[in-house]
Amino acid sequence: EPDHSGSIPALLERNPRIKIVCSRGGKTSVARHCPGGYNLQIVKTGDSLSLGKRNLRFFEAQMLHWPDTMFSYCPEEKILFSTDAFGQHYAHSSHFADEVDDCELWAEAIKYFANILTPFCGQIIKKINEYAALGWPFEMICPSHGMIWRKNPNRIVEKYLEWSSGRAEASVVVVYDSIWKGTERMAKAICRGIEAEGMPFKLFYTGVADLNDVMTEVLKAKGFLVGCPTLNNNIMPSLAPYLEEMRGLRFLNKIGAAFGTYGWSGEGVKRLEEALEKATVKVVQPGIKILFKPNDEDLKSCEQFGRNFAKQVRSSCG
Ligand SMILES: Cc1cc2nc3c(=O)[nH]c(=O)nc-3n(C[C@H](O)[C@H](O)[C@H](O)COP(=O)(O)O)c2cc1C
Repeated sequence: EPDHSGSIPALLERNPRIKIVCSRGGKTSVARHCPGGYNLQIVKTGDSLSLGKRNLRFFEAQMLHWPDTMFSYCPEEKILFSTDAFGQHYAHSSHFADEVDDCELWAEAIKYFANILTPFCGQIIKKINEYAALGWPFEMICPSHGMIWRKNPNRIVEKYLEWSSGRAEASVVVVYDSIWKGTERMAKAICRGIEAEGMPFKLFYTGVADLNDVMTEVLKAKGFLVGCPTLNNNIMPSLAPYLEEMRGLRFLNKIGAAFGTYGWSGEGVKRLEEALEKATVKVVQPGIKILFKPNDEDLKSCEQFGRNFAKQVRSSCG
């Protein structure tokens, strides 16, 4: 992947005799990114390469997170070079996980997992188990970006198994947009209902929310609610990036529902429900839609909607 091998063309320019060692998947990628002649060696799981004093062993980890992904293991140092797996999009003057703020580190690690690796949960579990069966013990994990795991590196592996499991907290993420605050008042009333059930929730307004932060919260939470008014017989376009991103990330075992105001035709809620289903979120209760501006009675219905949804979340979390 160019973010960890983008310098290969520059290296080849300086020294065309450099040997490139890569996986089978890497061959295709190298051929396209570095046209021209070069010395290529394809390796597979179990192969090793002598670097002189030290050796590297290879482990093919396809789709963690690209087809070419391959771990390299140095048995003399007990270091696992894990490329994309176990990384973060996190730059710091320190290089080691044990030297940075723990809250920041784990927030970045789960954000990276949620936004980059979620589509490959099944493959992650499979590859972690395959690696464990090799019996190549590591004392350090060096991903291609983010912090190096030095103290108890297994904790990030355990977290990957947990995040890949499809189990989630009994909590709810609510995302909405609104022009004249009718849908916003609905969203807040729904959250009061969730709160009345004693369930944690996070409310995001698309006008200020960050897509990647929202996806991280979606990974953690069992429930997902989405709302907006009907606009041109459809949803508000500002919701589309969230629903499309969820469709691509294919979160496991999520439940959801939709809400929103309308002026005349009122297709918005139905369109949101369709988008939820496409995003593999199971719609577990009928959406709620309100004409123009919610009155006190409507807001009570929204609170009840929130309470009902919180109950569904609790019961589906077991
Ligand atoms: C540009 C525009 C297009 C709209 N198109 C529709 C529509 O196709 N069907 C409909 O039922 N309401 C439509 N509406 C009405 C809104 O859904 C309605 O005003 C709603 O109450 C706004 O909700 P809000 O208070 O959350 O912003 C439209 C409103 C605007 C501004």
